[in-house]
Amino acid sequence: MEALTRRQFTQTVAAAAALGASSGPATAARARGVPSAPPTHTLAFPNGFLWGCATSAYQIEGAVNEDGRGPSIWDTFAHAAGRTANGDNGDVADDSYHRYPEDVSLLRQLGAKAYRFSIAWPRIFPGGRGAPNAAGMAFYERLVDALLEHSIQPFVTLFHWDLPQALPGGWQSRDTALAFAEYAGYVARRLSDRVRHFMTTNEFVCFSDLGHKIGQFAPGLTLEPAAVNQVRHHAILAHGLGVQAIRANARRGTQVGLADNPKVYVPVIETPAHIDAAQRAFREENAPFLTAVMEGRYTDRYLERAGANAPRVAAGDMRAIGSAVDFVGLNVYQPDYASAASSADGYAIEPRPTSFPRMPSPWLFIGPEVIYWAVRHAGRLWHPPAIYITENGCSADDVMDAGGRVNDTDRVMFLRNYLSQLHRAAAEGLPVKGYFLWSLMDNFEWADGYQRRFGIHYVDFATQMRVPKLSADWYREVIAANAVV
Ligand code: FCB
Repeated sequence: MEALTRRQFTQTVAAAAALGASSGPATAARARGVPSAPPTHTLAFPNGFLWGCATSAYQIEGAVNEDGRGPSIWDTFAHAAGRTANGDNGDVADDSYHRYPEDVSLLRQLGAKAYRFSIAWPRIFPGGRGAPNAAGMAFYERLVDALLEHSIQPFVTLFHWDLPQALPGGWQSRDTALAFAEYAGYVARRLSDRVRHFMTTNEFVCFSDLGHKIGQFAPGLTLEPAAVNQVRHHAILAHGLGVQAIRANARRGTQVGLADNPKVYVPVIETPAHIDAAQRAFREENAPFLTAVMEGRYTDRYLERAGANAPRVAAGDMRAIGSAVDFVGLNVYQPDYASAASSADGYAIEPRPTSFPRMPSPWLFIGPEVIYWAVRHAGRLWHPPAIYITENGCSADDVMDAGGRVNDTDRVMFLRNYLSQLHRAAAEGLPVKGYFLWSLMDNFEWADGYQRRFGIHYVDFATQMRVPKLSADWYREVIAANAVV
């Protein structure tokens, strides 16, 4: 198993390297004045493929006390002792609240076609619900207008974890899902004349389980299983009610979806039996989240396993949760592996060997093929009209050299291999329409603070200077060629 994984990985690297080397002779031929054919990109993406970058509000904006913003659970959490690396918080972050014009020009210089950012709910409703805060809304209108001026399509996430602190009970309360729908409807009314794509929520499992089961994220709770399942239910209910509220308030044709990070199972060997097992694992292991959203019901197996701890479901909840979406956004980072088994589930999940390669974030195992299988499993199981990769990228130990360069060859290696596997999905005709690289720039990486850099622009947090890394130069070429380079 280990040897197979290593071999597959090496082969992918070799294939990508061979491709890169093909520009060598062409350059040499040009230098000699010999006419050469333009480079042919075997890994070209379909015309109109949407290349973008992603960020989120609390990770980049700073300005936490400006223009009437209310506190979020992440302000509280990051300021509590011992919750984040070095006690870091998002008070200033990338100061993008003030520097957004510069950040829009970074996107423009990349040739990015789209930008995924999130709206801070507590800027719009400082108390969670009630009277909207005009100054907060005005900030996002300015940002959207600046993007459109440069023909960069805004992709708006409504909830990327910065829940208004004022909401009683937070996600433990069903009312929070109702409050989210009010907020989503309001923003859709205000922005859908300019924004064509809205995502309700980002990564259910992170704000439900990391926040309420293991306590690693805000609000830092470690609840019992029944309470965790209830939080999960409120999270997907918020999504469903949010979809309905956006549709009720937005202009016709507005595209509504979500960004989720399902566990993605790669078949250990690409034989029909293992592929079938991996797809079953994908459906069942995401039963509380994406599977419930796409199917409008909890799987029998999930309810059986949860037993007395199963969530309490009010009449109409599952119908709301299953509201049809126009697209599915997948945040894809690390693989899990499954194989065929004669168990009741029909699959076995492979334990990860300790030598499995990873990037500096301890959770970020490297498995480029996971991005192909993410699109393929979601596409085959649920046939969504469109799929976007709403996040993919990696941390790296970026060091600026004496000449002011960050040569993040490791990040380029990571991205090139993942994109090569995404190309496979597009080439097979799966409906993948775009890719958002996480992240436009280094930022506040939640509990890991500023020590984990995910950006393709280096940020000097003392001066707020942004410097393109090698990966930014590489991504600019990818976008220009509409192909893996
Ligand atoms: C995802 C989050 C995003 C960022 C990346 C590295 O889980 O959605 O905010 O932290 O991981």
